[in-house]
Amino acid sequence: MSQTPSRPKKIWLNGKLVPPQDATVNVYDHGLLYGDGVFEGIRIYSGRILKCATHLARLYESAKAIRLVIPYSPAQLTAAMRDLIKANDRQNGYIRLCVTRGVGSLGLNPNTCETPSVFIIADGISLYPAEMYQNGMSVITASTIRNHPAALSPRIKSMNYLNNILAKIEAIDAGVPEAVMLNHLGYVAECTADNIFLVQDRKSGPVLRSPPLHAGALEGVTMNIVLGLAAKAGIPIERHDLTKHDLYVADEMFLTGTGAEVVPVTAVDGRSIGTGKPGKTTQKLIQAFRKLVAKNAPED
Ligand SMILES: Cc1ncc(COP(=O)(O)O)c(C=O)c1O
Repeated sequence: MSQTPSRPKKIWLNGKLVPPQDATVNVYDHGLLYGDGVFEGIRIYSGRILKCATHLARLYESAKAIRLVIPYSPAQLTAAMRDLIKANDRQNGYIRLCVTRGVGSLGLNPNTCETPSVFIIADGISLYPAEMYQNGMSVITASTIRNHPAALSPRIKSMNYLNNILAKIEAIDAGVPEAVMLNHLGYVAECTADNIFLVQDRKSGPVLRSPPLHAGALEGVTMNIVLGLAAKAGIPIERHDLTKHDLYVADEMFLTGTGAEVVPVTAVDGRSIGTGKPGKTTQKLIQAFRKLVAKNAPED
């Protein structure tokens, strides 16, 4: 599923396809100075833009929340992504679509920025080694909590990921690729760039458990795809507050994200999850996800 990153031929920058060396950002851009901007990460499978419309809807919602008016319509951005895919001959890979506040003065005031800057990159992405999709990964719970929703809603996909980066550094220091982030109340929110799912095997069969949106997570596009696949497979879904203890005693665990796709987790904070191997329900959902994107990936 993953692809080795290679240098793209063209970048889409403010309406033009330009060579990467010409795709530069002004040092007065508030996206750079303050992380003032929003973005999307989107997958391309066999030339199709997975959930293109859903990603764009989230982009415009994020922009609205920070009072940023995107100077292009969703149709124009969709056309831009298709032009970029064609220009780069990229049938599979990853699109990064960023909208910054634009070039302004050195103060915080966003009104000094005349025009938002929009750029789109189409490239390869490989977040975790292939072996982890087979055998699962170990994660830790970070001491860095997810942003307080009253400070910056985690539902805004903003260009400021410092909060998550600090948790990622904790993971790297601990020798694992990912960290689970709790919210300000101590409940499980999400990982640094993925949503989180648990499976609990009950007498009636497996049940999927994931934190509710109010726990403070990004409303993941992949998460919603997996929820749909689980519902289709007749797996009941429970969304309620989860604690670290719920993670430790889960029968299975996996993460979802555009970059990560669906990846099994087999240990948390040194406790093995279930049998210590990716479980049946996780494997079933990974297969269902791969089948969905293999041919005619939905673009709605
Ligand atoms: C903080 C965070 N949570 C969750 C996700 C997963 O969301 P999606 O499936 O839309 O990529 C991402 C992906 O970028 C993320 O950055």
